[in-house]
Amino acid sequence: MQQIILSDYEQTPALTDVAIPEPNHGEVLVRVKAAALNPLDVKLQLGRVHAYFPLTFPSQMGTDLAGTIEKTGSLTSRWRVGDRVMARLDPTKGGAFADYAIVPEDQLVLLPQDLNFNSAAGLPTAAGTAWQALVEIADLKAGQTVLVHAGTGGVGSVAIQFARGLGARVIASASGDGVEIARELGADQVIDYRSEDFATKVSDIDVVLDTIGGETQQRSFDVLRSGGKLVSTVSPPDQALATAHKVEGTFVFHTSNAGRLSDLVKAMRAMGQSVLIDGVFPITSFAEAFGRQASGRARGKIIISV
Ligand SMILES: NC(=O)c1ccc[n+]([C@@H]2O[C@H](COP(=O)([O-])OP(=O)(O)OC[C@H]3O[C@@H](n4cnc5c(N)ncnc54)[C@H](OP(=O)(O)O)[C@@H]3O)[C@@H](O)[C@H]2O)c1
Repeated sequence: MQQIILSDYEQTPALTDVAIPEPNHGEVLVRVKAAALNPLDVKLQLGRVHAYFPLTFPSQMGTDLAGTIEKTGSLTSRWRVGDRVMARLDPTKGGAFADYAIVPEDQLVLLPQDLNFNSAAGLPTAAGTAWQALVEIADLKAGQTVLVHAGTGGVGSVAIQFARGLGARVIASASGDGVEIARELGADQVIDYRSEDFATKVSDIDVVLDTIGGETQQRSFDVLRSGGKLVSTVSPPDQALATAHKVEGTFVFHTSNAGRLSDLVKAMRAMGQSVLIDGVFPITSFAEAFGRQASGRARGKIIISV
């Protein structure tokens, strides 16, 4: 089979011929139909998250996948050959950008018949993180106002929809054609961050979802109401600033959780929500897809069709 392999940090990911792996106890072999890129793949390749996710080389790449079960290992009880599934793999092991991938059975989620493989692959990390941030950490409620930075990103595009579905008023930041895209996703107000300063446009925000970090994160403290919450996917918020502003500042570290993934798929279906897809690339065009992810300009998810 073919698989994207990284030979070392900062090396070019390469499509490589490897043997089809065998599932062990409690594992399944998935025939991958689609996999999604995340900024994490770029950070892993650059060695920027080595402290959290140390790689051993040669390293398989890719965490988010959807496909069908090809084979089950022994003691694997719940799953049948042919089941349509999705999963997030351990980032230190990877393996999603391949014809076949080994998945621990407790990480599998069954796909509803009307969820296609490309959309399903786009969900695990991005939607899982948005859910963890807004539902589990911020406990966002109907009637509250949330500011979603990078409303056209993988995380932001689904966060707008979740927040809207929860009954919150949604303000998003975006730029160019992204302003209209964020509106279509359900944002009540969109700030074009290239021409407008969000910190002078909004105030009394209940929850900020920071997907940018740096100065954007620092200035986000100014727009929160007292008692508000800043949740960052990028870096731990400055606790001295949080205390000075009488707000909570929390870093969300996404953890794979099949139960959460299953819940959010049900919630998205119930609310008619969908995955914003930036583009679909064959695995032979992986370099182009990876470059698009690294550009930081994606509108939603970049999918590798296998
Ligand atoms: N902690 C965790 O567990 C966790 C989990 C998931 C993601 N993350 C991190 O969260 C960040 C966002 O992830 P993602 O998947 O959403 O990234 P992404 O899909 O690559 O985000 C791209 C989007 O960001 C927008 N953008 C860039 N700069 C912006 C700015 N200053 N203001 C508003 N929008 C801006 C771009 O729009 P324009 O082209 O218009 O600029 C583009 O649409 C990444 O750093 C990622 O590594 C962390």
